Amino acid sequence: MTLLEFARGPGLQWSLVILAVGMMWRLVGILALKHKPDFSEPRAGGGAMFAGAVKTVFTRMVYAKPFRTQTTLASLLSYVFHIGLAIVVFGFGPHILFIRDLTGLSWPNLPSGMIYLTGVITLGALVALLIRRMTHPVLRLLSNFDDYFSWLVTVLPIATGLLAVAHLGARYETLLGLHILSVELLLVWLPFGKLGHAFLVFVSRATTGAVFARRGAAT
Ligand code: HEM
Repeated sequence: MTLLEFARGPGLQWSLVILAVGMMWRLVGILALKHKPDFSEPRAGGGAMFAGAVKTVFTRMVYAKPFRTQTTLASLLSYVFHIGLAIVVFGFGPHILFIRDLTGLSWPNLPSGMIYLTGVITLGALVALLIRRMTHPVLRLLSNFDDYFSWLVTVLPIATGLLAVAHLGARYETLLGLHILSVELLLVWLPFGKLGHAFLVFVSRATTGAVFARRGAAT
């Protein structure tokens, strides 16, 4: 079995299984946490709590005013790489074919040149954020293995994808095999480390919004 065959076969199947089981495990673990009973009089009922939950998912997309000036560059770079990743993953022709084979869903693709440019910009934003993390006096102290490893597994699919299209460093089949394996590493790591925010962000923001709405507080 070649590297590419392994990556397209058992590697892909196992990484998808680990992703699904890991996400369920994290979600069940969080939902099963013991809740302290809240004896206070609710200021708002179920409808307002639901509205608060939905609203907070969106309002937290922008930093609170007092922190905005210090965080402008970091949040701009974060937006650039999140949007860049979405464009590359869901806009590139071969990726759409892959998703179609897996799910039956497909949509029109973006021009490849635009994908490559977006890939380079995304990589640049991620490198800038790493430099910021390593040089910022406070952020540096707060960062641990999870932060750096999560950065690495996010960067690897972009870097290997760009190397594959540039045919740089090895045979195309090998580069493609490495590209798919790097995506699988990302899928396997996603539920367990800080990358879990990709799905947990909705749970945490909605919970905050619902609790705040119950207390009658603005979010
Ligand atoms: C600029 C960045 C990227 C470039 C240039 C790129 C390029 C490519 C190319 C050329 C292929 C395969 C074409 C073929 O079948 O010959 C491919 C496949 C794939 N890429 Fe990317 N990629 C990039 C980023 C990503 C990212 C960020 C992900 C996911 C996190 C990803 C996931 C995949 C998957 C799942 C496949 C399908 C493999 C298969 O055909 O079995 N790619 N990519």
